[in-house]
Amino acid sequence: MLNIGVLISGSGSNLQSIIDEIDSGYIDGKITVVISDREGAGGIERAKSSGIPAVVFDRKNLGIDELNRKILDALKSCNADLVVLAGYLSILSREIITEYKNSIINIHPSLIPSFCGPGFYGLNVHRKAIEYGVKVSGCTVHFVDEGTDTGPIILQHAVEVMQDDTPEQLQKRILKFEHILLPEAVKLFCEGRISISGRKVTINREGLL
Ligand code: GRF
Repeated sequence: MLNIGVLISGSGSNLQSIIDEIDSGYIDGKITVVISDREGAGGIERAKSSGIPAVVFDRKNLGIDELNRKILDALKSCNADLVVLAGYLSILSREIITEYKNSIINIHPSLIPSFCGPGFYGLNVHRKAIEYGVKVSGCTVHFVDEGTDTGPIILQHAVEVMQDDTPEQLQKRILKFEHILLPEAVKLFCEGRISISGRKVTINREGLL
């Protein structure tokens, strides 16, 4: 069974979706650490109430370099095999990305390569999608490389944009599907069903319903 480290910055609803699907038996893995880069992130309480070790390394106090050093140490000492960015907003160091090459995944609330990259986080993503006038947006789970939201795509799900959507409404509609897509990607990774060749990710769904 693989060990999973989850990095968060916010409410942790995506973290919760992984916790729930481990509890249900859908994911064959174990979260060995949850790390937040800020105080007061709701996900820390979610982890604690599920008995999962959780730590805060506050970026404001530590600075980005020290934050990344502490994260790498914590991931190693918890023997993480897979690192999940579940609403994590700081930039990971080259050391972490190299150490966990092809083993870090991120959830992004748009259909990459649209509405992603530097500055595209939170409500801003949905605001930009609505301003542009796209008829579909959605969510993407991808591997993390040195760029921002540029790594190979694992799974995507399209969500319709309604005529009078507000960014908040679109965010809410997409988030529901994030909570399905992220656990699915974690499951597939934990079962060794994902392979990468260049930018192309192949999933072996043999034997799955
Ligand atoms: C999600 O929309 C995720 O895609 C984005 O940040 C949000 C985090 O939500 N990267 P939560 O903290 O998991 O509730």
